[in-house]
Amino acid sequence: MCGIIGCIGHGEKTAEVILDGLDTLEYRGYDSAGIALAGDAIDVEKAEGRLERLRDRIASQSTPLTGPLGIGHTRWSTHGPPTDANAHPHTDEANRVAVVHNGIIENYQTLRDDLEAAGVSFTSETDTEVVPHLFASYLTEESDPAAAFRRTLEDIDGSYAIAAVVAGDDRIFATRNDSPLVLGLGDDRYYLASDVPAFLEYTREVVYLNDGDVAIIDPDGYHVTQQDGTPVERSSSTVTWSADQTGKSGYDHFMLKEIHEQPTALRQGLSGRLDELSGTVTVEELAAVQPPEAVQFVARGTSYHAALYGSELFRAAGVPAQAFLASEYATGPAPVPDDGLVVGVTQSGETADTLSALREAAGRGADTLAVTNVVGSTAARECDHILYIRSGPEIGVAATKTFTSQLTALNLLVEELTPNAREMRDLVTALRDLPGDIQQVLDETTVDAVVDEYVGSEAFFFIGRGYQYPVALEGALKFKEITYEHAEGFAAGELKHGPLALVTDQTPVFAVVTGTDERARKTIGNVKEVEARGAPVVAVTDGQSDVARYADHVLEIPETHPRTAPMLANVQLQLVAYRMASELERAIDKPRNLAKSVTVE
Ligand code: AGP
Repeated sequence: MCGIIGCIGHGEKTAEVILDGLDTLEYRGYDSAGIALAGDAIDVEKAEGRLERLRDRIASQSTPLTGPLGIGHTRWSTHGPPTDANAHPHTDEANRVAVVHNGIIENYQTLRDDLEAAGVSFTSETDTEVVPHLFASYLTEESDPAAAFRRTLEDIDGSYAIAAVVAGDDRIFATRNDSPLVLGLGDDRYYLASDVPAFLEYTREVVYLNDGDVAIIDPDGYHVTQQDGTPVERSSSTVTWSADQTGKSGYDHFMLKEIHEQPTALRQGLSGRLDELSGTVTVEELAAVQPPEAVQFVARGTSYHAALYGSELFRAAGVPAQAFLASEYATGPAPVPDDGLVVGVTQSGETADTLSALREAAGRGADTLAVTNVVGSTAARECDHILYIRSGPEIGVAATKTFTSQLTALNLLVEELTPNAREMRDLVTALRDLPGDIQQVLDETTVDAVVDEYVGSEAFFFIGRGYQYPVALEGALKFKEITYEHAEGFAAGELKHGPLALVTDQTPVFAVVTGTDERARKTIGNVKEVEARGAPVVAVTDGQSDVARYADHVLEIPETHPRTAPMLANVQLQLVAYRMASELERAIDKPRNLAKSVTVE
């Protein structure tokens, strides 16, 4: 997920307006940035790192960037680490075209191979760079750059919001497909951006584009067509948000925004990795990984809960697997299995404990793999293999969408390394439907009634078995992190061995029960145990079993595959924690005593 912007009509101030707009879009990605101004020629400046570095680089230039119109980009790497060369904008060899892009061009490798075979030389590792080369190749054939732009779009597949400028042309060409793009209408000034905050300082008149729309802004206004050039009507509307709200796309907190971003984050994580026709999974970056004899996971916090889930997946596939708390692994005697794989699960890729554990494993001769969200992070650079979860930047300290993306990516990992064709088709269907199922939970949740009833309770317990055990732990962690209330997660079968002593009519128990297998039946037994001690019960369930009979409240989730049910149940528990913290007026995005990435041991 990156941030793009374009504007016309600010003359000398064009560069400044674009840089200020990128500032507001940095929540979408902040590992490199760039700008291109267009006039008779195209002027490009870009830099690896935060936006300040680009500003410094531009300020240090002897000649200022000039051009009556321009585009800009702040990046969240998916293809190619954050470097100057991989930063956007990307241009063609003759510098006639400059392009910024948010999303993933799925067929970029094929296009790149064809272009290189035709003699085109590339300067970056990105998927995006195929676009300016294609555009430039059609510019020679088409008299109108708009037609050349539309032809370029016929060649590319994937998710994209693109803005492009052409030397000597006073227009900005743009389009969107499964990636946000809005236009801004000012007085003799026109804008486009990934999000409204980028130009809200100048106008509240916006035009929301639909997937497939091709928009052209010029000094006199804007035009929208379909890809075949047929004009379409897109009316404008007025935005009412405050500046503070903008970065959160209208949500009160980044955490809530990120909870609601999960369907999009999962689509990004699954894009190009599921083949529904053959019912198979293919993850390019794992092609070189040998099927392991055994797997050890190392991680912390929420990522450790994902690792617990991952280890269960491998055991179910017949591969011995265990999840370790990274700090215990790094200083412990755990022998590295022969022909084994040590997997570090870390969204930031910078957690010190997990890095130490991975270095320890590598030092003991293990093959290491990082399951991470940050391209170019230390874990990504130090491990032998990488699996990117592609969740996009997560600003809220409490991990939400990255956990769901981790569970999803771990399903891709186990299918890639221990393929089980017999079961894979059902899983592929369930993964394909997962973004929609999560949207249903977000749209239909009834958590408010639960929170209103149990706010002020003494303590909160979360129970589950099998794949739902890590979800119970994660539910409790989210609850603790942002409400500061006493909460604990347990393997449901553990209650009788001690924790049941804590259970009273003042301790609501959240029980995650999906399916009708032995684990579901046994969890219902545990529900009856706590119910018998007077505890209020909230069942998170898909309704396949009769657990609702023993519950005071039910948080429903759609029926799905046993391996995707945890992602749905987890969304309900995220919402319980978020709603309770709002009720208690906690600092949800920056909870006390915590940090987003713990870079000390
Ligand atoms: C989760 O909400 C917390 N932010 C924390 O437990 C986190 O999961 C842990 O520090 C691991 O971070 P990582 O995934 O970036 O390695």
